Amino acid sequence: MTGHVSTKLTDRFDLCAPIVQGGMGGVSGPELVAAVANAGGLGILPIWASPPDTALQSIAKTQALTNYPFAVNLRADFVQTEHISAAVDAGVSLFNLFWGDPAASMPAINTGGARLISTIGDGDTAKRALDVGAAALIAQGVEAGGHVAGEMELEALLDVVLPIAGDIPVIAAGGLATPQDVAHVLSLGASGALFGTRFAATEESNAHDVYKQALIRAEEGSTVRTMCFDGMWPNAPHRVLKNSTFEDWEAAGRPPQGQRPGEDDIILHTPDGMTFQRYFVAPPGRHMTGDLEAAAMYAGTGVSKITNCPSAAEVMGDLVSQLVS
Ligand SMILES: Cc1cc2nc3c(=O)[nH]c(=O)nc-3n(C[C@H](O)[C@H](O)[C@H](O)COP(=O)(O)O)c2cc1C
Repeated sequence: MTGHVSTKLTDRFDLCAPIVQGGMGGVSGPELVAAVANAGGLGILPIWASPPDTALQSIAKTQALTNYPFAVNLRADFVQTEHISAAVDAGVSLFNLFWGDPAASMPAINTGGARLISTIGDGDTAKRALDVGAAALIAQGVEAGGHVAGEMELEALLDVVLPIAGDIPVIAAGGLATPQDVAHVLSLGASGALFGTRFAATEESNAHDVYKQALIRAEEGSTVRTMCFDGMWPNAPHRVLKNSTFEDWEAAGRPPQGQRPGEDDIILHTPDGMTFQRYFVAPPGRHMTGDLEAAAMYAGTGVSKITNCPSAAEVMGDLVSQLVS
């Protein structure tokens, strides 16, 4: 457990540190989420890509590893009320919704007496989340790794969102990787700092080693916000490391589906026999095999500042090291 640092976020959610681990599909599983929670931060467990019964197993596994609260992450555009009700019944009290209007999910969240942490990317989506009763906002700047709905840079986004949010805590996200980044966003008025890519390169992360090593090697300019990896999730901009699939598609003039280089190639195999084609949305996971480098390796612009792959507890300790308790 790290020393207590108080902000609006830590007070409202009873955390020891104003640090949030961003939900990362295929990467932030029970081990990572629990490690962050045990170290005093808020871990976020994505369950949107699994059916409710598998989601419940993942929640139970996380609960077996920590007694601290964590949030689950769902897609607002899917309106996953069955997941919400099942998670509430399992004792989950924090829901992080992203991608779309959270309004339709609110009855299920409210019925369960749970709270919404809404990911937003501009002033309008922030207002909408506040109108429906969000208890906190994640302000996701365009620097972020993974799927990024907004186009505003983080500092400009904070300028817009902080005055609208008033007493509601705002968590800054996108391109952050260091203790200096935490101190900086708190000095701008954010109540917490969220890290995705930084936690993808930890021992507990479910990213494949090839992916973790690519994160460590990455330099400034290694990421791109693109529509390249659209398999199962079209028209959704995302930030990834530039890799062979991206470079070949770019060199071919970014052709549409049906004309893309190597698009029928199977490049990922899961241990239970599933296979994924080249432009599929899934990142290379811990136990996958295949042409791992060619798959979607999500990363934020802060990746150039990541040079190691320690435990999540070590990352937590480092991130709060410049904060005065
Ligand atoms: C590998 C990866 C997968 C992600 N998957 C999700 C997801 O399932 N749900 C979500 O809300 N955000 C997702 N994101 C976005 C993160 O929650 C967070 O907003 C982002 O990582 C912050 O930017 P950073 O990576 O520069 O720290 C993902 C990001 C990464 C790097």
